[in-house]
Order: sequence, then structure tokens, then C-alpha cells
Amino acid sequence: MSARQRITADTPPRKRKTVTLSTITEKKALGEPIVMVTAYDYPSASVAEEAGVDLVLVGDSGAMTVLGYQSTVPVTLDEMLMLAAAARRGLTTPMLIGDLPFGSYEGSNVEAVKTAQRFVKEAGCDAVKLERGGSSVERARAIVEAGIPVMGHVGLTPQTAIALGGYRSQGRTAEKAMQVVEDALALQEAGCFAIVFEAVPAELSEAVMPHIEIPAIGIGAGPATDGQVLVFHDLLGIYDGHAARFVKRYANIREQMVAGVSRYAEDVRTRAYPEPDHTYTMAPDEAARLRAELKALDHSPSEL
Ligand code: KIV
Repeated sequence: MSARQRITADTPPRKRKTVTLSTITEKKALGEPIVMVTAYDYPSASVAEEAGVDLVLVGDSGAMTVLGYQSTVPVTLDEMLMLAAAARRGLTTPMLIGDLPFGSYEGSNVEAVKTAQRFVKEAGCDAVKLERGGSSVERARAIVEAGIPVMGHVGLTPQTAIALGGYRSQGRTAEKAMQVVEDALALQEAGCFAIVFEAVPAELSEAVMPHIEIPAIGIGAGPATDGQVLVFHDLLGIYDGHAARFVKRYANIREQMVAGVSRYAEDVRTRAYPEPDHTYTMAPDEAARLRAELKALDHSPSEL
């Protein structure tokens, strides 16, 4: 193995080095793509761990994919902390980033720092992510000053999708693109360690990349960014809601899950399950004694 370790799914987890801020900064410098995926619980995090990804985001997309809300807006801080703590238990190597939910950081710098601290103290996150430019830039700066790494998020920011005209790509005119660029540069200047570009034209990402000194992670932002992120349930085909244009399905797990549970239901209904292999047994003499004792009970006078 070279002095600098190249992590792949074939690298045994025991031998992988923990991903740190310097790891991803170095990856950017070397032009090595950064892999990020979301996870919301122990099993999804342990899959991400075993697959050898670099960054795991406990995204507020979990509001929809695992909690069944219609958007990311209703998810509470306590719900996000529970998901993040569960994901933490499935991870050793990747950096874990907690997504600050809508309404938990916008009000003031003090609120933002307190919320970020809860992700670190209670859920074991290494960093947090927040959405938008504007007032979020000051929130990001305050959290960074409090010693917690922050990832920014510009372009389509689902927490404020209504104000953006819905879940649609952003920055499609030069003027609108410049707003996205200005948000990104302001977040970079505020000390963010990385930034997500969501649902923006490839031309925008390509044009802005020479100005972005921190790792840029794209989701529906074309190939120019330093890395890519996808939602776990989208890429594995677990979530049956609408999939955005940028989603590539690498599996159709939901179909397999439905097929598996349907086969189980059928086996229970036809008594094909459980089979002897799934059943505990007693020694024949113990079973005979048990039957005799139960039979004796039938003949004993009622105690009532
Ligand atoms: O919540 C989420 O999953 C996200 C990613 C799509 C970046 O914010």
C-alpha cells in the first residue's frame, strides 16, 4: 500500500484510516473524487462504512426517507439527533456530518451554536451542515468560531424550497447563477470546510470551481465538483417517492424488500414457515415428561 492510503470497498474496515478534514482537503488537492452518502441509522451507516465512503451526512432528507414527512421542514432537532446518534454507532472511518434542521439555527448565532453543539455532544457528529447563504453565512461563521466544522449548502436548498419556487434547479440564468456563486463564496469566506452544490447547471459548477478553495460536493451539479453526494434511499431504490433527475439508481432494494416480506407472509399463511431448521427442540424424554405432567394437570381437581 502506498504511503497515502486509497480507500475502496475492498479495503478491510480495520485497515482504513479515519477520514478527517485534512483527508478531504488532500483529496481535493490531488484531484481524487470525494464520496459522500447520507445515512440515518445503524444499518445504513454500517453499509456506508463497509462500502468505504469518505463522508456520511445524516441529512434532513431523513425526514422524508425514514420518517415519512412530506418535506424536510417538519423534522425536529430531537428527531435528527436520534438519527445521527444511531448512524454514529454504525461508523468508524468516514467523517459524520449532522444536518441542522429547519428552525433550529436560523434565529440567532447563539441558537445555531447551541444546536451544532448538540450534534457533536449528543450524537457524536464530527461536523454540521446548514443551508443557504444570506443570514446562514453569519450562523456558519459563529459555529466555526465555536470550534465546530461547518459544511455549507447552496443552489436548491430544500428547507426553503417554497421561497425558491419549488423543488427545481437553481441558477439557470447568469444573474441567478451569480447569486448562487455569491452565497458559496460567502460561506467559504465564513470558514466552511466544504460546500454542497445542489441542483445547479453543470456550467455554473464548472465556472465557479476555480474560485472554490474548499472541497465542493455536488448533487445534481454535474461532474466538475470535487465529489458527489446521493441520498442512500434514492441510490439504492428504497424510497418510493419522486426521484430527482440527478438520482442514479444502483439497486432496487425496495422491490426486493417487498418481495421478501410478501414471501414471508405467504409462508406464514400456508404454514411453510417455520421449518425444522428454525425450531428449537427438547430431548424426547424431557418432552415425554412434560406431556405427562400436563396430562396429570387435566385430572387434578380444580383449585378454584
Ligand atoms: O438532506 C440531505 O440529504 C442533503 C443532501 C442531499 C446534500 O442535504
